[in-house]
Amino acid sequence: MTSKIASTPTRICCIGAGYVGGPTMAMIAKQCPDILVHVVDLNQSRIDQWNSSELPVYEPGLQEVVEEARGRNLTFSTDVEGAIRDANIIFIAVNTPTKAFGIGAGRAANLEFIEKCARKIAECSTGHKVVVEKSTLPVRTAEAVKRILKSAANGATFDVLSNPEFLAEGTAVQDLLQPDRVLIGGESAAAVEQLVAVYGRWIPRDKILTTNLWSSELSKLTANAFLAQRVSSINAISALCEATGADVDEVAKAIGTDSRIGPKFLKASVGFGGSCFQKDILNLVYLCEHFGLNEVAKYWEQVVVMNDYQKKRFSARIVRTMFHTVSDKKIAIWGFAFKKDTNDTRESAAIHICRDLLEERARLTIYDPRVPESQVRSELEGIFKDALGVVSERHKQLIRDHVTVVPDAYSAAENAHAIAVLTEWDEFKKLDMERVFQGMHRPAFLFDGRNIMDACRLSEMGFEVHSIGRPSYHGNA
Ligand SMILES: NC(=O)c1ccc[n+]([C@@H]2O[C@H](COP(=O)([O-])OP(=O)(O)OC[C@H]3O[C@@H](n4cnc5c(N)ncnc54)[C@H](O)[C@@H]3O)[C@@H](O)[C@H]2O)c1
Repeated sequence: MTSKIASTPTRICCIGAGYVGGPTMAMIAKQCPDILVHVVDLNQSRIDQWNSSELPVYEPGLQEVVEEARGRNLTFSTDVEGAIRDANIIFIAVNTPTKAFGIGAGRAANLEFIEKCARKIAECSTGHKVVVEKSTLPVRTAEAVKRILKSAANGATFDVLSNPEFLAEGTAVQDLLQPDRVLIGGESAAAVEQLVAVYGRWIPRDKILTTNLWSSELSKLTANAFLAQRVSSINAISALCEATGADVDEVAKAIGTDSRIGPKFLKASVGFGGSCFQKDILNLVYLCEHFGLNEVAKYWEQVVVMNDYQKKRFSARIVRTMFHTVSDKKIAIWGFAFKKDTNDTRESAAIHICRDLLEERARLTIYDPRVPESQVRSELEGIFKDALGVVSERHKQLIRDHVTVVPDAYSAAENAHAIAVLTEWDEFKKLDMERVFQGMHRPAFLFDGRNIMDACRLSEMGFEVHSIGRPSYHGNA
């Protein structure tokens, strides 16, 4: 690969207008008014939403960032070819889901979309371009991208960089504004400097780390594996707390004040979700197996096994506590997104808990402040798909007859036998719980999958409260 960096003004194209492409490009455009940023996607309705006042991604503060730059130096369209042609830096931010079929199914990353992007770039490019991997990818993917780009028809030349994204959904704007670090891996010093110059407009230089390509690719998988491992570690201890009478929040505080451990990511919960943790760990596991490192693969796989156990344990506890049956009982589900402050439901723990409760024939009334009904229903259908991707009529009917989606938390809990708190939305902490209690059957069970409710106060009101890794509080009313 050559390193003929253009002296012309920087023009950026980003392929993929999802949770990463949209917010990251909006931030670059906001911070660099002289750089034209064009975000493209094959999905017309997603692009229409980016061009409207109802953005497809909910993130606190994002609307303002987009509105500041859109129409000035930030554009969204489906003109993938035109955007590639015009740009000298091309980000690839398409999805890299776990492969659902063939070799490596259930573990390896599906790189189909990455390969299609590389082929499209090779086909449409002239001159010299810097291609940036923004998607999370297995180590050495850049090798494959480079090989595809080499086949460019019009004599174009390329440098390939790895620039993984570390933003967390729910805090994306803040994370992009003041990241802990930006990571850029590459072989061409000139190309690396070109990208450093973009981020350097608002990020201090000492926070921009430059590495070789493979370290950069591997660092992203490793960061997610370490973060998920902390969640699974504290969740493993939560099971022991429930068995022994210890309180997991007290244990988390006691260990988190040790500066070698630190306080972050020690919140016990019903389990981690989101589109990244599970997929990236499984991808790491697959890589380790590929290199014959079976013990290393098993070590990391256990993080996912523990997460599955935590979700199952929670739904089993609901059934056991409610006198071993939830059949025909109404259970209010508070929260469906995988965490607060996002509308993203991919791999949300709520989907798994709802599936288990539906299998037990519970009637679910679901409320989430940011997730529309169509998305709830499509996720629930998704979890009942068989190996061929088909949902049986029986399961479709189960969802139709046993799931209601409502516009607020109070109506979800009206006439309910139990409430399950599955997302830590702040508004759940501010509800009039006396009012909620009055509308419920007795005993009024509350299962707090996020440990956000005041169990002691609620039990004084009469609730029977079961949290994660904490003693249960039995209602006094
Ligand atoms: N979501 C996160 O919090 C997060 C954080 C860091 C990194 N990542 C990584 O970033 C990548 C993107 O994640 P996301 O959550 O934004 O995914 P997403 O599914 O929200 O968005 C991906 C977009 O790419 C589009 N796309 C796919 N193939 C295309 C093609 N050939 N041409 C044009 N558009 C195409 C899709 O239509 C979709 O809109 C993934 O690799 C993910 O692991 C995600």
